[in-house]
Amino acid sequence: MRIRIEEVSQTNFSDIPDPCRYCLYWQTTGAYSEEHLKPYNEREKKIWLSRVAREFGECAKIAYLEDSPAGFVQFAPAKFFPRTAEYSSGLPSKDAVFVACLYVAKKEARGKGLGTAMLEDLIGEVGRRGFKALETFARKSSAENPSGSLSLYLKYGFKVVVDKDDFPLVRLER
Ligand SMILES: CC(C)(COP(=O)(O)OP(=O)(O)OC[C@H]1O[C@@H](n2cnc3c(N)ncnc32)[C@H](O)[C@@H]1OP(=O)(O)O)[C@@H](O)C(=O)NCCC(=O)NCCS
Repeated sequence: MRIRIEEVSQTNFSDIPDPCRYCLYWQTTGAYSEEHLKPYNEREKKIWLSRVAREFGECAKIAYLEDSPAGFVQFAPAKFFPRTAEYSSGLPSKDAVFVACLYVAKKEARGKGLGTAMLEDLIGEVGRRGFKALETFARKSSAENPSGSLSLYLKYGFKVVVDKDDFPLVRLER
């Protein structure tokens, strides 16, 4: 299986899988509604991506399986993701890059190494950018979570740092 990972740019923006291309879950706070998952949010997502690119650097990548877009990863310091303040095990640390989303949208593309490839790529990226650590809220009971399951992160050496509910904060030190 041929996997390729590309930074999101003007050229490939439309390859970001649904619903990630217009999802504003992490960019918002308060009650989450269907409104946060509507295609008309695309413009706002583009604006957010541009702002974070200016202030932090590129913060989203698309994973292609056999040249077909299938996965998406979104990451930046937690201050760019206000939703992190609503998690019981938060707040993520200021010295870390936070993995907000690591998702293989197409069911048929799961279990083929895309999630692993995106995570390995991200671990390298954090090192290149000089950050001290990578953090996320991983889910204990299931992979149905914006960034996937706790088991995936434990396999890569992440440690649980705060454990208040089903979504512990996990951290990988560089
Ligand atoms: C969790 C996820 C990112 C893992 O990526 P993946 O490409 O399927 O996984 P990989 O092939 O790289 O395998 C990594 C691990 O993922 C898990 N995994 C493998 N196949 C899976 C599948 N079909 N579904 C869910 N998790 C799977 C396993 O723990 C695997 O570990 P292993 O190698 O020890 O078996 C991906 O399956 C996914 O996005 N699932 C949907 C999660 C979801 O519903 N998210 C809600 C978003 S809001």
